[in-house]
Amino acid sequence: MRFFSTLVVLATASIGAFAASSDDHTNAPGFKNVIKPKFPLRILLSNDDSWASSNIRSTYYALKTAGHKVLMVAPVVNQSGKGGTVVLPGVPTLTTPGRDNSVAAGAPYHGAEPFDAGITYVNATPGGSVLYGLDQVAPSFKDFDGEAPQLTVSGPNEGTNLGPFLYTLSGTIGASYISTERGIPGIAFSASTTPRDYHAVDWNNPSDESVIVGTYTANLVSALTYALDQNADPIIPYGIGGNVNYGKNVTDPKTCPHPNWQLTRLTGGAYVDKIVIGSNGLPTYQNIVSPGLNQCYNGDCNLTGEQDAINKDNCAATVSVYSVDYDAPTSAFTKAKPQFQQTLQRLSNQKPSKRQMLSREA
Ligand SMILES: *[C@@H]1O[C@H](CO)[C@@H](O)[C@H](O)[C@H]1NC(C)=O
Ligand SMILES: *[C@@H]1O[C@H](CO)[C@@H](O)[C@H](O)[C@H]1NC(C)=O
Ligand SMILES: *[C@@H]1O[C@H](CO)[C@@H](O)[C@H](O)[C@H]1NC(C)=O
Repeated sequence: MRFFSTLVVLATASIGAFAASSDDHTNAPGFKNVIKPKFPLRILLSNDDSWASSNIRSTYYALKTAGHKVLMVAPVVNQSGKGGTVVLPGVPTLTTPGRDNSVAAGAPYHGAEPFDAGITYVNATPGGSVLYGLDQVAPSFKDFDGEAPQLTVSGPNEGTNLGPFLYTLSGTIGASYISTERGIPGIAFSASTTPRDYHAVDWNNPSDESVIVGTYTANLVSALTYALDQNADPIIPYGIGGNVNYGKNVTDPKTCPHPNWQLTRLTGGAYVDKIVIGSNGLPTYQNIVSPGLNQCYNGDCNLTGEQDAINKDNCAATVSVYSVDYDAPTSAFTKAKPQFQQTLQRLSNQKPSKRQMLSREA
């Protein structure tokens, strides 16, 4: 008996060691709820939490389990809050290790997991990672056969990103809109999950929170393909992308066995920062719902704001559709245009004075 239990322990240990070294979790038992697409897509996967985040690794395998072709190009360290900033590697090698020691200091600025050429990091911001991915990695990625990705998936972020203020600020959404601007539609995903290293994911457990958000993310992408024309390029109109948020309880299968998917809009109860002085005497942030942020000029004003939807329902999974056309829409521009036209007229009528003419000649 004693001998037998020792054997069991040994067997368990070696299975664990095998799983850790083979490290391909496509079709792992945890992904039993992944649905199949109408057709597979070529997907660029990025985020702002880094390539070592449990959520991005889970999404990679969930998308692969569904049959999509996936290339991950994600920041090597946490790049939260960088918005659409594009910062590229400034030196050939890493001066610090990757997040959670995923790669050692001194490694090249771009690299792949030794066991999977589809899982790569770059020492860049989220926006920089997407551009580097599109232009320098995707063209030679063998699963893409020389074709460009059709969709960029960003996230799911460790924490929600709700409303236009976070749209601008979030690196997760930044990666998405940088891709949309390049003509490859981007969809950002954000979850109410805690930061974890991907080694902590239980790939056999459909209730692991990263397996859950990975599965839902892959399922949205796969469900989308049924609404698409396989030969369309781009697959959704140019300049359009999405922002998806998972409510607090979406990762709790007991209270939310199925998320309440709903179409929302970016504005509506959305927060922007207000600065107050904290108990330590230093300025700190507080949320404020400001009218400056919550006008409905664009889109469908009947839709609930994503912040309101998430506040109201912990099981909500909100899907807002954004455009990167930042011009003021007619409704606002009709009033603002004469004000700006008058201003320009005044500037044009301003004749340079003698003094200005003289200094210009000098
Ligand atoms: C990443 O950076 C953000 C912003 O500095 C911080 O709030 C967050 O806790 C960091 N995440 C991790 C896993 O360190
Ligand atoms: C969310 O989960 C918490 C704790 O598991 C529970 O108390 C609460 O009732 C749940 N809310 C909803 C809307 O399911
Ligand atoms: C919004 O709701 C109003 C009133 O119910 C309706 O008349 C209008 O057509 C709706 N607009 C859109 C874009 O659905």
